[in-house]
Amino acid sequence: MMDLRERTQVHYDDYPFIEGGDERVNWWREYLSDFLPDEDINGRLILDVGSSVGEISRGLIDRGARMTCLDLSLNSLRRCRQINEEAEIIHGSALELPFPDESFDHAISIGVLHHTPDCRQGFKE
Ligand SMILES: C[S@@+](CC[C@H](N)C(=O)[O-])C[C@H]1O[C@@H](n2cnc3c(N)ncnc32)[C@H](O)[C@@H]1O
Repeated sequence: MMDLRERTQVHYDDYPFIEGGDERVNWWREYLSDFLPDEDINGRLILDVGSSVGEISRGLIDRGARMTCLDLSLNSLRRCRQINEEAEIIHGSALELPFPDESFDHAISIGVLHHTPDCRQGFKE
């Protein structure tokens, strides 16, 4: 029997997160500018945990950030690579991040932790 991590991966490989295209990229780009103003992200290294197809990362790259996109779903990451050629793409879990502490200037994770069996662990990571 598959554990939750495997089931989540299979689910998002079968049904990668729906794509909203330029409209969604621009919506998130605008929305996040209140939380992450240009001076805080230009040239900075940002981790997008559960990036899926990378539409949120796309908007941050367009504003000058250097992105690492991490997700459990390989199918989602394949698409992420297509729209984020500049990003580092990592297959991994939010609950066991494969990076030393303090590796990033910022981390974002949107619509992800409630899909994990341990939100606290995800937040701690
Ligand atoms: C609802 S989508 C949100 C995608 C993206 N953050 C966005 O808002 O466009 C949830 C994503 O979280 C990923 N995910 C779920 N559990 C994960 C985990 N433990 N580690 C990494 N990614 C995970 C799924 O594969 C899926 O791509």
